Amino acid sequence: MPSESRRAHWENVYTKKGENEVSWFQENPAQSLELIAEIGASPDTAIIDIGGGTSRLVDSLVAKGFRAVTVLDLSETALKMAQARLGHGAASVRWLVADATTWEPSQEYDVWHDRAAFHFLTEEKDRAAYVARLRRALKVGGHAIIATFALEAPEKCSGLRVVRYDAASLGQTLGAEFKLGHTLRHEHATPWGSQQVFQFSVFRRDL
Ligand SMILES: C[S@@+](CC[C@H](N)C(=O)[O-])C[C@H]1O[C@@H](n2cnc3c(N)ncnc32)[C@H](O)[C@@H]1O
Repeated sequence: MPSESRRAHWENVYTKKGENEVSWFQENPAQSLELIAEIGASPDTAIIDIGGGTSRLVDSLVAKGFRAVTVLDLSETALKMAQARLGHGAASVRWLVADATTWEPSQEYDVWHDRAAFHFLTEEKDRAAYVARLRRALKVGGHAIIATFALEAPEKCSGLRVVRYDAASLGQTLGAEFKLGHTLRHEHATPWGSQQVFQFSVFRRDL
């Protein structure tokens, strides 16, 4: 999908729907927080949430005192919604309106977090562009926490086709320098009560 169509899709979603009217809404991003704690992140850890949208992960990180949090999303509307919710706390966060497949990273991060953004990249060239940014932006020794729809999850999310992964197929897509660590499956309940199985995988960048 061309970058402009992708942006238009997501702007339309966030313009029309409230925070808790989207299937991926989580009151508490517990799985992400658990994995971020497990890798030993501290308030100075530089974390980027790729495709963060209106996720409350940033609220939890700011509340825990994290001082180097960046949220990237191609929807400016989504980021404005998250900023409005955070209020004063938004000032301590870096907000980037960008497409993860074309963005030019200007700093390195210790943690790259992505829940339900990567799985929308159905074309090989877009996945390669994403992984190239991951390689540029994630420090050697840093961690990528990536959550996608699992193999048994629906074929579509937000009306768009997705690629479903298990930890092995995601690892193959990222490349050999990303060593698989902890994984977890999460049965996410949408706000209207249907189930979507997510696969969370933690990779350590070794070289
Ligand atoms: C299903 S939502 C998940 C949002 C958030 N991560 C969460 O867990 O609540 C997918 C998000 O990824 C963003 N997104 C999709 N493709 C993207 C891309 N190529 N670059 C940056 N953001 C993207 C969308 O705007 C949307 O906010």
